[in-house]
Amino acid sequence: MTVIRGATTIEQDDKEEIRKAVKELLEGIVERNELKRDEIVSMVFSSTSDIHAYYPAKAAREAGFGSTSLFSAQEPDIEGGLALCIRVMLFVERNIQPTHVYLRKAKRLRKDLSSIYNIAIDGPAGSGKSTLARALAESCHILYLDTGAMYRACGLKAVREKIDPDDELAVCDMMRGLSLEVEYRDGKQKTILDGEDVSEQIRGPQVTAAASAVSKFAAVRAKMVEKQREIAGKQSCVLDGRDIGTYVLPEADFKFFLTATPQVRAKRRCEELRAKGYDVSCEEIEREIRFRDEQDSSRAIAPLRKADDAVEIDTSEMTIEEVLETIKRKIQEKI
Ligand code: DC
Repeated sequence: MTVIRGATTIEQDDKEEIRKAVKELLEGIVERNELKRDEIVSMVFSSTSDIHAYYPAKAAREAGFGSTSLFSAQEPDIEGGLALCIRVMLFVERNIQPTHVYLRKAKRLRKDLSSIYNIAIDGPAGSGKSTLARALAESCHILYLDTGAMYRACGLKAVREKIDPDDELAVCDMMRGLSLEVEYRDGKQKTILDGEDVSEQIRGPQVTAAASAVSKFAAVRAKMVEKQREIAGKQSCVLDGRDIGTYVLPEADFKFFLTATPQVRAKRRCEELRAKGYDVSCEEIEREIRFRDEQDSSRAIAPLRKADDAVEIDTSEMTIEEVLETIKRKIQEKI
């Protein structure tokens, strides 16, 4: 017999959130322990006293764990304890070396047991985030999630369907029919929009502008953030974006915020685009970058902002290697 522990948190006491969190937690435990569902003898859940909307055991049954004996109990109200937390103990027939799974804010409960860690790299366009995040992920042998690519795919859909990316109602409507998957082939992220690999098509200037415009809407962000949290909850990864440290993963283990002057950023973007065959002018790109900075920083929901606990690095005068070394050193210092 093996006992496996797990815990997760929800943002608010809501039936749907409880269902999703329990499903994600149990699927994480099953996947990381390579379990077959029928070898789980029983599951005991406990939830903090601020959770009333649903029984975690019922959510487990609905998530396909109905053949296991299930039980939920409420924990005493402990001052200073983690809020809105669901814990589980799984009893498994086989003797295995258990991997305990702590997700979302529950990661802070057992840093020693939680082998998943997330590195958040935020910053404006051209600050070097994506090159850095990719190199860092490679050197740590973990996944790189380019969250900008996901917003770019939404922007591409708007462009293709001739939807005004500033028209919230139209974009919201478009999101209902959007199918977006992030896949990894040979370690490289592929962005799949409506079944088609659009990893290259999302890089052009028109899509870039549309991505920034559609990303200010709640309907877009909610869908993207849910997917990002799901991916980051299952494995260690480096995520780059605008709101990773402040909103997507406020509990990320390491947070960095990269900056550079608009001129340097425009020059980098310009070279990158020219290398891809786009005929662009650096002045035009600088104007576009300044406009995007303003739009990404001033939107109401999860704007581009440095998290209070993020390490800020001005990359204007640094090479990628120097930034990478600085980030690795900061990570070492924190460990
Ligand atoms: O990082 P990028 O240039 O590929 O991002 C494209 C746009 O997507 C950016 O202008 C704003 C939006 N975005 C966002 O709002 N939040 C993120 N986490 C990542 C990107």
